[in-house]
Amino acid sequence: RQKILEDSFGRKHTYLRISLTERCNLRCLYCMPEEGIELSPSNELLTASEIERISKVFLSYGVDKIRLTGGEPLVRKDFDDIMQRIGAYKRDPRYNLKTIAITTNGITLKKKLKTLVDSGLSAVNISLDTLVPQKFELITRRRGHERVIDAIDACLDANFGPVKVNCVLMRGVNDDELLDFCRMTEHKDLDIRFIEYMPFDGNRWSDKKFMSYAEAMEKITAEFGALSKVVDDKNDTSKHYKISGFAGRIGFITSMTSHFCGTCNRLRMTADGNLKVCLFGSSEVSLRDMLRDGATDDELGEVVEAAIYQKYYALGGNQDMYDIASRKNRPMITIGG
Ligand code: GTP
Ligand code: 5AD
Ligand code: SF4
Repeated sequence: RQKILEDSFGRKHTYLRISLTERCNLRCLYCMPEEGIELSPSNELLTASEIERISKVFLSYGVDKIRLTGGEPLVRKDFDDIMQRIGAYKRDPRYNLKTIAITTNGITLKKKLKTLVDSGLSAVNISLDTLVPQKFELITRRRGHERVIDAIDACLDANFGPVKVNCVLMRGVNDDELLDFCRMTEHKDLDIRFIEYMPFDGNRWSDKKFMSYAEAMEKITAEFGALSKVVDDKNDTSKHYKISGFAGRIGFITSMTSHFCGTCNRLRMTADGNLKVCLFGSSEVSLRDMLRDGATDDELGEVVEAAIYQKYYALGGNQDMYDIASRKNRPMITIGG
């Protein structure tokens, strides 16, 4: 009988997000402190074969989607190797792995894309918070706007799976670009997903910079009229809409004003080998240490099951964004979204 990862609220966890690195080639304001973070020593990070082994444990519980995140996953030197190992599971009939996705800033994506698709990559989410090149440098503290735009187009041209653009809404930073982002969906068959700004350690979140889903929607409908609702997948983080006649879709990730925890199917592995059962929950368990102490797959599985059973219903046990902001968590760069 298929083992499953069910929590005490009956939520079945079938989506594993694996952070491959704490490093990034950008320095986005909302993700990491200006001074950077203290990196884990490299011997504390999961190796490619440990990632393969841990993935197998989750796959044996019916996980059907793996997303590779970071930091920036593509800065990891053995990224191709990791992608091939996970790709092999997708072709392995003993498992039900259907989707291999990455979340990337797109900086180095274009030249690697073909190799990744050949290994089994089936979906790409690219972060892009502005359409204005100079502003890109303010938000990311680095150059590269054009490369990100080119990466998005390369993904669309390659036509291998869905392409989503993640845009974190920040008042006073990019709220004036809402309509321009929406217009990107006129001819491009992609999803633009506006994300409510979430507080993490060191990311200088404040409610003054926060812009809600409701406010964004009001501005969009004032310009384009009422949007038509697109049916969401059952575990989607995003509520999807369409501007009539446009090729792509517009999504809203409303973690702060209307959370979607009731249908949460997500688990996370940090780059240093901890299982994190909720984006906002702070308790973590080290699968890396168990693995290095010689634990069997069954022993690892039992610890995963127990950790999931402890998962809070919503927002890691917090009431709202102010609670979250006041509570210690990791910096976003070490969680991977
Ligand atoms: P799809 O698989 O394409 O739907 O993407 P995704 O939304 O699961 O992943 P992505 O890495 O693109 O994340 C987009 C935004 O959603 C980021 O801001 C994430 O932090 C946020 N997000 C992803 N998963 C969760 C979650 O479980 N809870 C909350 N609150 N936010 C999440
Ligand atoms: N709030 C909302 N989304 C964030 N992301 C990173 N930091 C934050 C934050 N503070 C997004 C990135 C990336 C995804 C993994 O998470 O834009 O697309
Ligand atoms: Fe799942 Fe936690 Fe995100 Fe809610 S906040 S959707 S429970 S990971």
